[in-house]
Amino acid sequence: MAGEEPYPRKILQYMEGFLVSKALFSACELGVFERLQGSQWSASDLALSLGCSEDGMERLLNTCVSLELLTARTDPHGAVVYSNTEMSSMFLLKSSPRSLCQSIEYSSRTIYLCWHYLSDAVREGRNQYEKAFGVDSRDLFEAMYRSDEEMVKFMHLMNSVWNICGRDVITAFDLSPFRCICDLGGCSGALAKQCVSAFPQSTVTIFDLPKVVRTSQQHFVCNQDERICFCEEAEFLKDLHAALKLIVHSCHDPEKSKESHKASEQSFIPNTNLYDISKIHSKWIM
Ligand SMILES: C[S@@+](CC[C@H](N)C(=O)[O-])C[C@H]1O[C@@H](n2cnc3c(N)ncnc32)[C@H](O)[C@@H]1O
Repeated sequence: MAGEEPYPRKILQYMEGFLVSKALFSACELGVFERLQGSQWSASDLALSLGCSEDGMERLLNTCVSLELLTARTDPHGAVVYSNTEMSSMFLLKSSPRSLCQSIEYSSRTIYLCWHYLSDAVREGRNQYEKAFGVDSRDLFEAMYRSDEEMVKFMHLMNSVWNICGRDVITAFDLSPFRCICDLGGCSGALAKQCVSAFPQSTVTIFDLPKVVRTSQQHFVCNQDERICFCEEAEFLKDLHAALKLIVHSCHDPEKSKESHKASEQSFIPNTNLYDISKIHSKWIM
């Protein structure tokens, strides 16, 4: 209304958004949604069962109710009991095929800590793995994959995200004319699986770092699916990135364009949609 003081609703939401994330992270980490699956619990019983304080648990549960992650009702004995919502049962249980638990764990234990140093990242223009985890951060993936365990966690993160929205992304493009598809940095193979499911005539080759490829083969991609194969060629991907940059560059610079088109033509592999990077002159590698 005219004359009223403006209310900083958005700023307040942004300011406190991290409290919401943290409540979700904690409820998952403490096992609230798992324990409530299929039954209703009072705050005191749940606190006892999960080894938490009664007061802390009650506050967390009520926060989850306000976030619509739980419902609360009063039982015939007058006790307040809590249960999962449909959305929580679908996305916040480890056993659910659409579970986001792995993503939430990664957000809580890795991304949240790195974002603590966002101002430093902006000042310094580099990632903050060194401050957050005490590891050399010059190579981002070396830092992210600082142990096999961390690498697997990251792969689960990728996997769970694509389990939710991979099909929509893949089917947003008509890939049916393409039989041989390459997924550069294909990680856990989640998108490749969506691809061969949506376009059954296609085969997908996943390119990734050797240890990622091995883990993906062992733990993520069922080896009976012959339509998905792997290539442990980290260097190839580095060159291909450069080659893609070259093609983008050529769109903006007419002089470079003539020469780079020639280079591209020479490197095009007949009857495929691929370029042979080895035929691209090193002067185009940026
Ligand atoms: C942000 S992740 C994306 C993963 C996957 N495309 C997805 O969406 O699930 C980037 C991927 O690139 C891979 N990668 C990074 N550097 C690479 C290199 N030099 N050669 C091959 N793969 C690389 C990582 O291991 C990781 O799997």
